[in-house]
Amino acid sequence: MDSIDKNKLNNLLDKKLSKNDIEELSIEIIKKVKDLKKREKNKKRKEQLDFLEKKYDLKILNKDQIKKIPDWIKKNLNECKVIGKSKKIILTKDGKKFHLDNKLNDLPGNEWSYFLRSVINTRYSTSGEDGFAHHIRKIHPSPKPPQLMRDIIKFFTKDNEHILDYFMGVGGTLIGASLINRNALGIDLSSKFINAYKKATKELKLKEQTTIKGDCLEILKSKKLIEKYLKNKKFSLIAIDPPYGDMMNREKTGEAIKKNLSSEATPFTKNKKDLGNMNWLEFKENFIETIKYSMPYLKDKGHYVVFIKDLQPKEGKTNLLHSDLIEEINKIKGLNYIGMKIWADESINLYPYGYPHSFVSNQLHQYIMFFRKKN
Ligand SMILES: C[S@@+](CC[C@H](N)C(=O)[O-])C[C@H]1O[C@@H](n2cnc3c(N)ncnc32)[C@H](O)[C@@H]1O
Repeated sequence: MDSIDKNKLNNLLDKKLSKNDIEELSIEIIKKVKDLKKREKNKKRKEQLDFLEKKYDLKILNKDQIKKIPDWIKKNLNECKVIGKSKKIILTKDGKKFHLDNKLNDLPGNEWSYFLRSVINTRYSTSGEDGFAHHIRKIHPSPKPPQLMRDIIKFFTKDNEHILDYFMGVGGTLIGASLINRNALGIDLSSKFINAYKKATKELKLKEQTTIKGDCLEILKSKKLIEKYLKNKKFSLIAIDPPYGDMMNREKTGEAIKKNLSSEATPFTKNKKDLGNMNWLEFKENFIETIKYSMPYLKDKGHYVVFIKDLQPKEGKTNLLHSDLIEEINKIKGLNYIGMKIWADESINLYPYGYPHSFVSNQLHQYIMFFRKKN
């Protein structure tokens, strides 16, 4: 009350108050009360922050906790502090925080939040260092950028863990894994694609991951080869970019013709087992089978990442493949849909589809759908 003009208040109380005086006074009182409340709230917040920021010596950590600290912290451990009420947050000298209960990844808090963006726009270069030997990988019609795969792997795995990609193509996932010291197993029907992956790795001087040539469904079913690779371990992440039904097998138009200088269809392979050569229903059936057969190799609370692109709506059909697949995969016992990211690839050239009559979108985006295993 002391910051309200006391004289003014007394004067006003001595005389008969007019309607205006009362209004003026009420406005002033409301404003002051608001200020006081705000100051009180800020004081409490500061006290809370001070408490949280109270730093503890690293000596309070036990051996097991220290063992699980990621390498990027261990390198300068003597400059770190433990902070927080729970005494479980490590603060590095440059302000990065890592929670000791983080069983999912090795990321500091700020990178964790950054990954949660539901939309990613990229324009990865296909030349120079950022191209990751794209000139070799480009024999594949749709190679995934290794940087994109690296960032996904980084969120869903810790250092040295294992990843499976049973539609590996020319190895976007495998290269992404090698970039951040993870282990990966890749499967593809085509030895041409696997060889291009190997050639790219050699040029990039990266660790060559294990690859198997063959039909993934048969390999997943037979268990022998995968169990030999895993040696009693499990995958933390299965990341796949399946061929999209018969999408690539139909006659091409527009941009596709421009790129390939021909209107002939380009299936990934001519093999009958190639899911890209199947119609949508056949594809779905076989695709769901691959997921079911891969489940025993995924650790509990491990993640499944699936890429898919919608087809254009046609003749009254919505062709929202992503939503169809989410429903189907979500029915698989022990696998729950937990959300998605939309990846927009800004490096794709625009083409005037539909011009000058109708709207036909240039689909720059793909869906990256996330599922989690729960027993
Ligand atoms: C969309 S591409 C994956 C591209 C990959 N992400 C990359 O970075 O190169 C799908 C791949 O699945 C492979 N494929 C299709 N059917 C398969 C099957 N039954 N078993 C194994 N691989 C298969 C194709 O040969 C193709 O390379």
